[in-house]
Amino acid sequence: MRRKVFVTRRLPAEVLDFIAANCELRIWDQEDIPVPRALLEQEIADVDGLFCLITENIDRELLRRAQHLKVISNMAVGFNNIDIQAATQQGILVTNTPGVLTETTADLTFALLLATARRLAEASNVLRSGDWKTWSPMMLTGQDIFGATLGIIGMGRIGEAVAKRGKGFSMDVLYCNRTRKRDVEETLGVRYAELEQLLRESDFVCVLAPYTSETKGLIGKKELALMKSSAILINTARGGIVDEQALYEALKSGEIWAAGLDVFETEPIPLEHPLLQLPNVVAIPHIGSASIKTRTAMAQMAANHLVQGVTGRIPQHIVNR
Ligand code: DGY
Repeated sequence: MRRKVFVTRRLPAEVLDFIAANCELRIWDQEDIPVPRALLEQEIADVDGLFCLITENIDRELLRRAQHLKVISNMAVGFNNIDIQAATQQGILVTNTPGVLTETTADLTFALLLATARRLAEASNVLRSGDWKTWSPMMLTGQDIFGATLGIIGMGRIGEAVAKRGKGFSMDVLYCNRTRKRDVEETLGVRYAELEQLLRESDFVCVLAPYTSETKGLIGKKELALMKSSAILINTARGGIVDEQALYEALKSGEIWAAGLDVFETEPIPLEHPLLQLPNVVAIPHIGSASIKTRTAMAQMAANHLVQGVTGRIPQHIVNR
């Protein structure tokens, strides 16, 4: 019997063909917007497998409707959009897509760091708006990256990949993490620091930790106050790790110099959000893993997990076992 699966968004054709060859495929492909909750509620009651994105909130209430669901395959490395405890209690496997997006996300993190330090968005606007009148000694001056101190909060795969990039720029790299990683210290030449020390000493602070109850609001008023007035905060992890109101105040008052943000508490961030009114914020729409190759690999990996999960095989990357 062919297992029924529901896919919550349009995917590359080859990935959909693969799923359709193995399962009875249903899909929300009307528009490139999140599936309406009512449809998701209806489908989850009937399918054996769910392929979803970080835009879907897979909460306990939704999971209660599932009758035959065996696997939830999330096309992301993060899985804070899913109530893992509820899924586990119902015996539903949850999978994610680690590894394939590491280098692409590290590239984007470093690109955002460079763009924020050297004010690329502002500079582009100056040129396009006709405000570039002459070469001027201190026009659009930013912060140096080469040789600066980089603080990484969360030394997982992406943290390590960002550290390598920092080393390429001769940066002194500090990190803090739930557990100290002496092997990484040795191989990459990075130094462990407690959060407070990292915040005090770093010229760039990159948030790369997973979003959990422990990291929610980890960077707030007190933490921002420890940072140098010339420091730059980069967040490519999850918006909720940083208190946005506190960040706004720190940026506005000059307590820190700038921020580069790929993620927000609410996504899409409302256009009238105070952070978007500040010139020292570079804001981009959650594109950390967005290269054609990587997004295709993530979709294919999540499709493999989906098919494995509904056909009684053990998916490769299970987060709740
Ligand atoms: C993830 O994988 O968790 C990203 O945030 C989406 O690419």
